[in-house]
Amino acid sequence: MLDLKNIPVLVTGGTGFIGSRLVPHLAAAGAQVTVLSRDPARAGRQFGAGIHCVKDPSETKERPPRVVVNLAGAGIADWPWTSRRRVELLDSRIAYTDRLRASLIDTPPEILVSASAVGYYGVSESREFTEKDGPGEGFAAQLCRRWEASAEAFSALGTRVTCVRIGLVLGPGGLLGRMKLPFSLGLGGRLGHGRQWMSWVHLDDVVGIFERSITDPELAGAVNATAPASVTNAEFTRTLGQVLKRPTPFPVPAFLLHSLLGQMADELLLAGAYVRPERAQAAAYPFRYPALEDALRDALGRTDTGG
Ligand SMILES: NC(=O)c1ccc[n+]([C@@H]2O[C@H](COP(=O)([O-])OP(=O)(O)OC[C@H]3O[C@@H](n4cnc5c(N)ncnc54)[C@H](OP(=O)(O)O)[C@@H]3O)[C@@H](O)[C@H]2O)c1
Repeated sequence: MLDLKNIPVLVTGGTGFIGSRLVPHLAAAGAQVTVLSRDPARAGRQFGAGIHCVKDPSETKERPPRVVVNLAGAGIADWPWTSRRRVELLDSRIAYTDRLRASLIDTPPEILVSASAVGYYGVSESREFTEKDGPGEGFAAQLCRRWEASAEAFSALGTRVTCVRIGLVLGPGGLLGRMKLPFSLGLGGRLGHGRQWMSWVHLDDVVGIFERSITDPELAGAVNATAPASVTNAEFTRTLGQVLKRPTPFPVPAFLLHSLLGQMADELLLAGAYVRPERAQAAAYPFRYPALEDALRDALGRTDTGG
């Protein structure tokens, strides 16, 4: 196991939802963290002294990173997948990772841990997926496959590469933050028929799995970051309603989501996949939040359990 003490680590996209918790965590473990951001001044204000923020990887030349964590990318669920948006989603991951590799070619990192998503597997109501499964169909699967291929190309430089296929992350903010308002108003409901799988994971476990992927040399290749048990959208909806103490009477019709959001709704909201974290479990990774209700309570700051 690698000791992170004094190890130079470069985190791309570190100002986002996951990075905001991962960056301080790695710094607390003793790593010398640099955040690569399009706006390093804003990133510097976000993290304060102690975290070096840069706009270009060349600014790390004096002490090149031994570890790179690659989180950057335009938000996959922020905007409908118009053809222009698809280009942005692809470029901000694949072209971005290619540029990162080119800029680090003279001093390649020993380890790259690069984000990917459970969208890699495509969607299914009946199958379970593990890291042994290949890529599925659809835009999200194609995006993940190409993003992982770009990360894998670091291997030619002698870098150990791990791609973390992340599920729906539950933490303060993120997608849950957007769902909170309608549910709090009692307007929440399952999406379509509600049988689609949601492979969720708590933010602390994403951070834990990223840390383990950095420090454990056994975890090269693909690693799923999902909770041990996925749930259907109907069960997720019910549990979220219980935690917020609100009814969830109004199913959102599939045709409405499809007409508003097109293929994004078809792949991300109305369909899903049951993705098991086989490698994290084989490595005895200790999940902090294996149960959905506990994860939601923590993420929403609802630690009261009564009623
Ligand atoms: N959150 C989830 O549920 C989830 C699930 C599966 C996979 N993932 C993947 O994991 C990664 C991190 O997730 P996250 O939720 O932390 O993402 P996020 O909050 O959207 O943050 C991603 C960061 O990427 C940078 N970025 C945004 N647009 C960009 C663009 N057009 N070009 C280059 N950089 C850009 C931004 O950093 P600067 O503004 O500082 O440059 C941003 O803070 C993402 O790539 C995401 O696709 C997340």
